[in-house]
Amino acid sequence: IYTGTFIHCTDLSKTEILTNTSIGVDEHGKIAFITPVDTLSGTLKSHSWDPAEIRHFPPAPNSSKNISFFFPGFLDTHIHASQHPNAGIFGKSTLLSWLETYTFPLEYSLSDPRTAEAAYSTCIHTTLAHGTTTAAYYATISVESTDILARLCRELGQRAFVGRCAMDNADFQPSYYCDADADTAIKASRESAESILAADPTGLVKPIITPRFALSCTEESLKGLASIAADLKIPIQTHISENLDEVALVARTFPGYSSYAHLYHNCGLLGPNTVLAHACHLSQEEVSLIHTTGSSISHCPASNTSLGSGLCPVRELLDQGVKVGLGTDVSGGYSPSILVAAREAGAVSRLRTAPGVETGIHSLSGKSLITTIATTTDNESSATTSEKQARDKLKLTVEETLYLATRGGAQCLGLEACVGGFEVGKEWDAQFIDLGAEIDAGYVLGGGSVGNVQVWKGMEWEERLAKWVYQGDERNVKAVWVRGRMVVDKVAVRA
Ligand code: GUN
Ligand code: FE
Repeated sequence: IYTGTFIHCTDLSKTEILTNTSIGVDEHGKIAFITPVDTLSGTLKSHSWDPAEIRHFPPAPNSSKNISFFFPGFLDTHIHASQHPNAGIFGKSTLLSWLETYTFPLEYSLSDPRTAEAAYSTCIHTTLAHGTTTAAYYATISVESTDILARLCRELGQRAFVGRCAMDNADFQPSYYCDADADTAIKASRESAESILAADPTGLVKPIITPRFALSCTEESLKGLASIAADLKIPIQTHISENLDEVALVARTFPGYSSYAHLYHNCGLLGPNTVLAHACHLSQEEVSLIHTTGSSISHCPASNTSLGSGLCPVRELLDQGVKVGLGTDVSGGYSPSILVAAREAGAVSRLRTAPGVETGIHSLSGKSLITTIATTTDNESSATTSEKQARDKLKLTVEETLYLATRGGAQCLGLEACVGGFEVGKEWDAQFIDLGAEIDAGYVLGGGSVGNVQVWKGMEWEERLAKWVYQGDERNVKAVWVRGRMVVDKVAVRA
């Protein structure tokens, strides 16, 4: 039984705060009841829970003045476990030069099982410590080391999708890191997926078909990979329209298709179980195709800013009903933290409103922008009301970014019935956040009023969440659970 304050996002812009509440989690890791503390004893009787079997968290009544709460575990919808050793290293590169300079050599080095074991173990420990309870991982081209990643996720208790990178286009990537041909790419990907499926009957760790991106593959492998996913009923992940050089090169490499998304669609890769990362430069036609096929977008703002890739038009995607989650995209992204991804998502959405920034969704037929904040001035006072409204609409609030970090990610990965919020029947994937006692200091120091001036109205949960998103880090994460199993314990207290 977990007791305290529970916060989760019930809707894109609605956050529910349950104080003085108890949540009971059964032996299968599922939420059995949610009840006010006052009515707990009655609830226990009605569920016929044996008092001798019950464990409490926190184990003793919480008398600390610290501001703490339970929050759903984060879902990272796009992360390269194999690139974790490089997080933060990207120099002045952009996507294509970054792949060649930093990324392919590192991933190749993980063909050595011992190197893979060390890198993957660190990556999982780190992401769990940052509150990531579910990760959609890219491994490497190596089937053996992809298997190691899946095994470590199972052992360390992280819910995960693990994908072996398929990449058979010898014209694009170095010969030392390339599938010999389409047939090899397809067979190795099937072998990897079947091995991961067979190893985990509980379904906590699943395979995901992973054509690296269009440029890494041939049409033959893209089509073959799509049929494995259909055959084994497993999801697909890849990259799309991350950077303009890439988009142009895709158009030249695959001249028979009207767009990047149409190429994927024609190869059978789009559908309700497909997660597409980045999507910074999609046309309206592509967004419509992504929406009608039920595919989702992994927004990776920390990566897009680091590699200078572009500004994903998240508001427009959401307005058009496209599912959106957050990804760290380590190591295109510099941070393994989804809290940082939420922060960057907010920051990027605001940057989009700056004068002179071209942003939005283009049309395939021309370069007309559907959404442009056509401001000629950054002077708020001279902006028209409709300009101001258009700017404000693009901004993602703290609540919205937290929604994307939890429930939005769950939708992308087909887990919405299972995780992402606190409801009876969902699994207990959660983190216990301690903001410390100083968080409300602004209120304490301000003292409400100075003379006749009201200086601070007092810290509400809304402001505490903003502090957490913009100032928090993994030190605030005191405990983490996946499917009821405690996988991080920094509280060091047990019943
Ligand atoms: N496109 C193809 N491969 C990659 C990768 O490893 N990271 C990112 N961000 N984009 C890619
Ligand atoms: Fe990526």
